[in-house]
Amino acid sequence: MFGSQSGNAEQLAKNLGRKLSLLGYEAPVVDMAKFRGVDLTREAFLLAVSSTWGEGEPPDNAVDFWNYLESAEAPRLGNLRFSVLGLGDTDYKVFCGMGKNLDRRFEELGAQRFAPRVDCPLEFEEPAEAWWKEVAATLNRLAPVQVPVAEPLPAEDGEEAAEGYSKKNPFPAPLLAQKRLCGPGSPKDTRHLEFSLAGSGLSYEVGDSLGLVPRNDPGLVEELLRCAGCSGDEIVVTPENRESSLRAALISSYSITGISRKFLKDFADRARDFYLKHLLLPEMNKDFQAWGEGREIIDLFLAFPGVKIPAAELVAVLGKLNPRLYSISSSLKKHPDQVHLTVARVEYQSRGRRRLGVASTFLADRLPDGGTAGVFVQPAKGFKPPADPDLPMIMVGPGTGIAPFRAFLEEREAIGAKGPNWLFFGNPHRALDYFYEEEFEAYHASGFLTRLDLAWSRDQGEKVYVQHLLAARGREIWAWLAEGAHFYVCGDASKMAKDVDDALHELIACHGGMSADDAAAYVKQMKKDKRYQRDVY
Ligand SMILES: Cc1cc2nc3c(=O)[nH]c(=O)nc-3n(C[C@H](O)[C@H](O)[C@H](O)COP(=O)(O)OP(=O)(O)OC[C@H]3O[C@@H](n4cnc5c(N)ncnc54)[C@H](O)[C@@H]3O)c2cc1C
Ligand SMILES: NC(=O)c1ccc[n+]([C@@H]2O[C@H](COP(=O)([O-])OP(=O)(O)OC[C@H]3O[C@@H](n4cnc5c(N)ncnc54)[C@H](OP(=O)(O)O)[C@@H]3O)[C@@H](O)[C@H]2O)c1
Ligand SMILES: Cc1cc2nc3c(=O)[nH]c(=O)nc-3n(C[C@H](O)[C@H](O)[C@H](O)COP(=O)(O)O)c2cc1C
Repeated sequence: MFGSQSGNAEQLAKNLGRKLSLLGYEAPVVDMAKFRGVDLTREAFLLAVSSTWGEGEPPDNAVDFWNYLESAEAPRLGNLRFSVLGLGDTDYKVFCGMGKNLDRRFEELGAQRFAPRVDCPLEFEEPAEAWWKEVAATLNRLAPVQVPVAEPLPAEDGEEAAEGYSKKNPFPAPLLAQKRLCGPGSPKDTRHLEFSLAGSGLSYEVGDSLGLVPRNDPGLVEELLRCAGCSGDEIVVTPENRESSLRAALISSYSITGISRKFLKDFADRARDFYLKHLLLPEMNKDFQAWGEGREIIDLFLAFPGVKIPAAELVAVLGKLNPRLYSISSSLKKHPDQVHLTVARVEYQSRGRRRLGVASTFLADRLPDGGTAGVFVQPAKGFKPPADPDLPMIMVGPGTGIAPFRAFLEEREAIGAKGPNWLFFGNPHRALDYFYEEEFEAYHASGFLTRLDLAWSRDQGEKVYVQHLLAARGREIWAWLAEGAHFYVCGDASKMAKDVDDALHELIACHGGMSADDAAAYVKQMKKDKRYQRDVY
């Protein structure tokens, strides 16, 4: 069974299913959303592969399954043997929360764990493969099958041909153009970027994201080299198994900002610092998280100038530099061979230092026109315009959340979709932060963008946010929903998406004449019908 939002766990599960059938096992692959079609009390073995979303929550397709497992309705699973593979990202506070929850709950329901759970970070391929090996070996011991494996494994879904461009082999896309979307004096600095995909063979659908391989700030790399006592010319072997100078490896291959447990452990030993060691105790996890906020590796070196780390030992404790995802803000139908992004430049002060977001400042400050950045397409299964072009579409995208909706509108214009379109956008000031103003105003003037509502949060004494406009337009939104409108949200997950979700529930209850429970059931059904889709981060 898989719980998956952006397709990683789904793909892994499908590949596992294929491998298991080649080994001779009957192994259907089940979407957790379809859990009612499976009787777990009658199954012998269960492999559960799930990612974690939100803040330690199940992916959308696994919410109902998880609620069911937690409820009194959940059956005893005394005959079931199980193993869980969790996908997650160590940058999140609740790393692989859903995998851990499933693992605990199956055990509580009486099932027996036949292979230990593995929690995978963003780079999940290696740990997932190690888990599979353990699962396959144990299965072979517990339930051997007699069928010999004669045929070779077929190519796995999504695995590119050797020469194709993919996450493992990103395309060096030339930057065609970049422009500022905010006027001088704006509290924000958001950029529009256009890359060429010509000759790459890559294509995307609107709603997809672009994976981008960033490069670190060379200034920070030089400072780190000085502090660590390295020249930068030392030769090291990178995670991609290439020989490289330490300097080049720190720029392109390693994460040199956030402090991982692995790095802290090594550093604390070298510094012989009791407090740092203490932070690593399992019961100090919350303190470790809080301590790490706004702190970077360079702060450790500056705090302990006596600590020097030889090149090979330094790279051994650094994590890989991970790609960043950006919602694609263009349609290939309007911009053949191009992909556009809308990127907020991340810069902030903490502990007396100016900090720079790795990828956003690489794009905004360090990538010249014509320079290339490694990119790949990350398909979004659950974030697409309505398949029926006549259906209405309501889009809520403040700040960089506007990105996919520019793409949706371009796509709908290109295919001559007749469905009405309603956009809610918000940012601090109309005069400074109205991204893509000319495009949206022209769409609106022509009637293609049927409704346009703008929330300028700082143009008056009190904050006006998109959810306030949703509430004010509740009656009309309800009418659109009643006509089958799809409702989309993109942008900040920490506050905006929750507030918009609350506003949606309230307007449905109020204008649909429903109790809070009925409104919640209505929203749940919208999600099931894929009429409520979110791309939040
Ligand atoms: C599916 C998806 C789509 C996305 N689409 C877009 C998009 O269209 N446009 C866009 O701009 N971004 C988008 N993002 C976010 C993007 O992937 C990056 O996370 C973002 O650009 C920051 O990356 P960075 O490398 O510049 O910053 P990093 O080097 O990763 O630093 C970011 C980290 O810095 C810390 N930080 C940031 N601000 C502060 C602060 N004020 N105080 C203390 N600490 C702070 C936080 O720990 C934060 O996690 C998307 C993310 C996802 C998952
Ligand atoms: N999860 C994350 O870490 C995360 C997510 C999104 C963005 N960001 C960071 O925030 C910066 C800019 O992001 P962005 O351009 O996408 O814009 P944003 O910060 O999301 O702001 C866009 C608009 O939303 C308003 N807003 C603030 N709180 C809101 C809420 N609870 N509900 C609805 N609207 C709300 C903002 O108003 P005011 O600012 O006036 O309050 C602003 O007008 C970037 O540095 C980005 O990296 C971080
Ligand atoms: C908005 C967002 C929230 C996430 N929240 C968490 C989290 O709380 N804990 C975690 O370990 N991973 C989290 N992740 C990481 C995902 O679990 C990870 O990217 C995973 O590979 C996605 O797999 P999927 O494509 O099958 O959904 C989050 C990712 C995103 C984009």
